[in-house]
Amino acid sequence: MAEAGRIDPTQRAAATDDAPVQLTLAGPGAGKTTTLAVRFVHLVRQGVDPRRILAVTFTRKAAIEMQERIVRLLCLGGPKGLAIDTFHAFAFRHLRRQPRRFGLPEKLELWDVPQQRHVFHARRMWWNEEIDIIDLIGGMKERLIDAAGFARMVGDKPDELPAYYPAAVEFFNVYEAALRDAGAIDFADMVPLLTRAMAHDTAIRSAITGAFDHMLVDEYQDVNPGQLELIAHFVAAGVKLWAVGDDDQTLYAFRASDIRTILDFGRHHPGARIHTPRGQLPGRRCHRRCGEGADTPQPHPRR
Ligand SMILES: Nc1ncnc2c1ncn2[C@@H]1O[C@H](COP(=O)(O)OP(=O)(O)OP(=O)(O)O)[C@@H](O)[C@H]1O
Ligand SMILES: [Mg+2]
Repeated sequence: MAEAGRIDPTQRAAATDDAPVQLTLAGPGAGKTTTLAVRFVHLVRQGVDPRRILAVTFTRKAAIEMQERIVRLLCLGGPKGLAIDTFHAFAFRHLRRQPRRFGLPEKLELWDVPQQRHVFHARRMWWNEEIDIIDLIGGMKERLIDAAGFARMVGDKPDELPAYYPAAVEFFNVYEAALRDAGAIDFADMVPLLTRAMAHDTAIRSAITGAFDHMLVDEYQDVNPGQLELIAHFVAAGVKLWAVGDDDQTLYAFRASDIRTILDFGRHHPGARIHTPRGQLPGRRCHRRCGEGADTPQPHPRR
């Protein structure tokens, strides 16, 4: 475990703490994923079955990086049998296994961008060039706002929303009808479909949460409302949550993530432990919190 030996004492303290809910905050390149990998190994050394540790992140690239580090530290041949993945892949695995339980057709189709765009091309519905309508719809769905909810939102507060929102209502309705008619889902549907089923069906909820004792989340600053709800189901079921993120990086946020998610961690999880490792070893950039010793994340102005 040579690499794990390279973490400093503040990273090690975060990796080995056993509080039930924890968040580690550090800057870009400060060793967050390394600390998460060391946490994984620490749990295994404590006797936790590695298959009962769910490690999730937002992008495919970050998930692969996490897999590689953990596999290397545990001296395994590969990630087979380990639940180290993106939120989307985790959700899709469940949906695909038993689509009917989630109200989906047995032969589930997954739409990617070409099929998504075809909906509007085929109907000669033209949107403007500045905003990507597929992205707008996806962002709403990841925020757990469906077509009807979007229409309601636009109807309620048209003056407080971007001027193009009212026109997007019809696009959203048409898109969702086409998706349903094709018996398909898209990427933005995955986590919301899973969390909705977990909210309404105790058997689904306990089967999913009962498979794990620990949940580790990398890149926590990028989680969106659907993913937050998934995390909340695990925490409510007594699964220990250990998350790591960077409260500066939301400037470059994914479409439905929000700086408040990371700043509100303590409010969502009263009593949560917040770590701010302050190592200043060469090759690592020091986070703005260096020396502050802050215990609770504080909002700071955007540049
Ligand atoms: N305590 C340490 N001493 C020396 N090198 C370290 C230490 N912790 C991590 N590193 C190294 O620093 C580099 C960045 O680490 P890591 O990828 O874990 O950071 P990160 O915070 O996850 O980065 P990002 O913000 O890009 O997600 C890696 O090469 C890692 O091996
Ligand atoms: Mg990282």
